[in-house]
This record gives sequence, C-alpha cells and structure tokens, in this order.
Amino acid sequence: MPQKPLLGLTRDEREAAGRLLNAFFHDYEESVARRPLVPEVDREVLSGLLETPFPDQGIGVEGVFHEIKEKILPNSTTVAHPRFLAYVQGPPNGIAPYAEAIAATINQNCNFWQLSPAASVVERSVIRWLGGLFGYGDEAGGILTGGGSIATLNALTTALHVRRPHFREQGLQTTGPQLVVYTSVEAHRSVDKAAAILGIGLDNVRHIPTDDQYRMRVDLLEETVRADRAAGLDPFCAVATPGTVTSGSIDPIDAVADVCAREDLWLHLDGAYGALFVLSERKRAAFEACHRADSIALDPHKLLFAPLEAGCLLVRDRTRLARAYAFSASYIAADEDPLMVDYMDYGPQLSRSFKALKIWSALQTFGVDTFRAVTDHVLDLAQYLADLVEAAPDLELMASPSLTAVCLRIKGATEADHTAVLAELIEDGTALLGPARLAGRHGIRACVTNYRTTRDDIELIVTRLSDIARAGHGKDIGTPEMAR
Ligand SMILES: Cc1ncc(COP(=O)(O)O)c(C=O)c1O
Repeated sequence: MPQKPLLGLTRDEREAAGRLLNAFFHDYEESVARRPLVPEVDREVLSGLLETPFPDQGIGVEGVFHEIKEKILPNSTTVAHPRFLAYVQGPPNGIAPYAEAIAATINQNCNFWQLSPAASVVERSVIRWLGGLFGYGDEAGGILTGGGSIATLNALTTALHVRRPHFREQGLQTTGPQLVVYTSVEAHRSVDKAAAILGIGLDNVRHIPTDDQYRMRVDLLEETVRADRAAGLDPFCAVATPGTVTSGSIDPIDAVADVCAREDLWLHLDGAYGALFVLSERKRAAFEACHRADSIALDPHKLLFAPLEAGCLLVRDRTRLARAYAFSASYIAADEDPLMVDYMDYGPQLSRSFKALKIWSALQTFGVDTFRAVTDHVLDLAQYLADLVEAAPDLELMASPSLTAVCLRIKGATEADHTAVLAELIEDGTALLGPARLAGRHGIRACVTNYRTTRDDIELIVTRLSDIARAGHGKDIGTPEMAR
C-alpha cells in the first residue's frame, strides 16, 4: 500500500471530509435565518476555548470538523442572516464556497502568467468585464485586491507615480510643492488612510463639504484646488465617491471630471460600495461618466456577493499601473508575453491567491442577469424600507436613499437612545443595523446588501422600530435608562 504523504488525507479521510463539509453547508443554509445575528460572547471564555495549545498528535478530520462546529460556528456573526443589514456586507453567493475550495486545491500563484496561465486569463476576463461595465476600453487594465481600501491605496500610488515621474527613485524626499488630495466630507476613511500611508499626510487631504444630498460640492472643489495652487501647493488627485458609505449618495462624477480635466488632477472613484449598482438599468445613468475617471475602486465582495476578500482596482490606462508596480528580479523566470498579464506588475504583492475564480464561477453559474436582478432586488427593498419609515409616525428618514443605505431616526431620540435601540434589536433577534451620522445628526443605518432579505424582513424591522419608538415616547427615549 502506498504511504500517504504526511500532510495528505487518505481516501477514507477525504470521503469523511467531503461528507462532513456537505453536511456543514446544508445545516448552515437551512439554519441561517434562525441563527443568532451576533453571538453572545464571553471574551474570556472564548479565548479559553480557542487559545488552547495545539496538539502534538492531530485530532484528525472528524475531530477538526467537530471543533469547528462546536467552537467556531457558535461564536461567529451570521453575516448571511436575512436581517443582517449593518455596514456594507453581503453574504457569499451559493457557488462561492466550492470555488474557494477549488482555488485552495489548485493553489495557483497569480503573480506571473507561467505559474498560473488559466488563472491569469480568468482574472483578465473578470477585469475586462468589470471595466466594460464602466465604458473602459482596450487600454484599461486592473487587478483584484483584498478590498476597496487596498484598491484606493493602489490607485493613489499609481497617481503619485504619474505626477512625480521620479517617485520610484526619490520617493517623496525630493523638493517640490506639497501634494494635495481632494475628497468629500462623506468619503470613506480609506482615502485618508491611503494618504497617510503614502506619506502625503492627512493635513494635505481636503474634505470638501457636500450639498443637501451629501454629494461633493463641485464649486467648492474647484475653489479649493485653485486656492491651494495659488498658495504654491500641488493639487494632484480628486477622489469622488459614487455611493458614499453612510447615505449611498453619488457624487456628480461628470462635473468632478470636468474640474479634474481643467485643473490637471487624477480622478479616482471610490466605488467600493456603489460602483456595481451600474448593473441596475435604473441606476446606470448615474454611472455614465465613470469612463472619464483615471481609476475606479470597486468591491466584488459586496455587490457580487463574492466571499471576502475580493476588491478590484481598474485603471483607464494600464501602463500607468505597471509604471508604479513593475519590477524585474533575477530570481523570477517570467518571460513577458503581450497576450498574457503578469499581475505582480500591477500591484505590490508577489504571491497572490486565485481570487478571480470565485467571481468568474459565480458569473458563469448564475449569469449576469441574475446579478442584475439581485441588484434591483436590494434597491427595491431599500426603497420599501424608506417608504415604510416615511409612513411611520415615530420615525423619520435622514436622507432619501440613492442606493441601498437607508439612514433613519426615531423622532426625538438622542444618540444614546439610538445606540440602545441598536442593542435591543440585536438582543431580541430583530436585526443587526448600524449607527449613522450625517451632517452632525445621529441615527440608525440599514444597508440592504443581502440577497436573502425579503419584504417581510423589512416590515418586521420597521414594526419593531415603531414599537420601540412608541414605547419609549415620554418614558425611556431621551432618558439615561434607555441608554443602557
Ligand atoms: C465607500 C467605501 N469605500 C471603501 C470601503 C472599504 O472597502 P473594503 O472594506 O473592501 O476595504 C467601503 C466599505 O464599506 C465603502 O463603503
């Protein structure tokens, strides 16, 4: 009998693992709506449970599945729960776990094409499809990343290399006016983070005020750029957000692109949350000008329901990406081929996982029309939620929703009240929602990014919020007891 490799499984063990995995998937799917949204965690107990010394003798396949079922799963958040509406996080699509398992099995290193020929082409086909959604042409390119934050960091890096041709050799140590980045007060912190990491400095990030719909004020953008230039600074990049994290507002991309063209700024779009709403016929017009951007960040791990991690950076002229990231090394036997892409030349990583497989597999399995339908489904639910809130006497909308983020308030409630309400909704199993802050006002935010959510779920949430609001009026709302 051939000996099994030290870290391999026997045929029987493989069969057991397959059976157990299948049972796990099945039980999870069947129980997802009944699982606690957030586990009740005693941090000390949890640490004791999972920080045990690793065994010298392994516990085997059955043993490890048992540990996962008994210790990991009950202490995990149920992101796939139909009333998990916090943040911008969707549950993975149905084929995703299988695609992930296959990616782990063949373990392609998506650094240069000879090591991962099919993976390289699959990634390019995903990138081309994504680029095509925004009207990017043959010159465009991009790379899958760990998420939208990394995509924006990579975009700002690319923009820096374009603006400062000697950046690679000299970094930011050269003399030259200080570089300035422009974004809005509603932008995601990943823009600040990128500027801080790159050495641009937070003092050189301008947060332009927004209009009454939380969109960047383009007049103020232009004014600020001109004032900075007149003061001897070097405005070099504007980051507009088609789909702000709090209210889903879509910055006026065309008008921002006009300013960028006039003022010679790189235009980056942080579309981590919103860009993929381009899939909806109803929203397409809002994204029409995206093709004018120099780069776009987006997140297949949000609206394409890919499991974490799957972000993406698209760049209108892919040679610019290579200018920032391509390095040759004697220990890598990569022969350039114009027909193929070496993804190590498009980003900071060398070893890279086969992220494209889960996106490609889902598009193949379900077809693009299903993703369009899911996009419309979540948009409809968000609008339904907004309509119910408007009709509820004790609730009010903080902004009319542009996408699927709905910000609302309980009339007369304080910030502490809203915090207490969020906790109560978790405690009684109604929903996981998040806090909202818009123009200094606080409230509650529900972001419908979940293909399992139904109208019944939305009704249940609004009914419960109304009940809490009614019960609280004149009693708890506004008093310290409510702010448990
Ligand atoms: C507008 C926006 N930008 C950036 C991000 C960060 O994306 P990621 O978590 O994929 O890094 C988010 C996350 O929700 C977002 O909404």
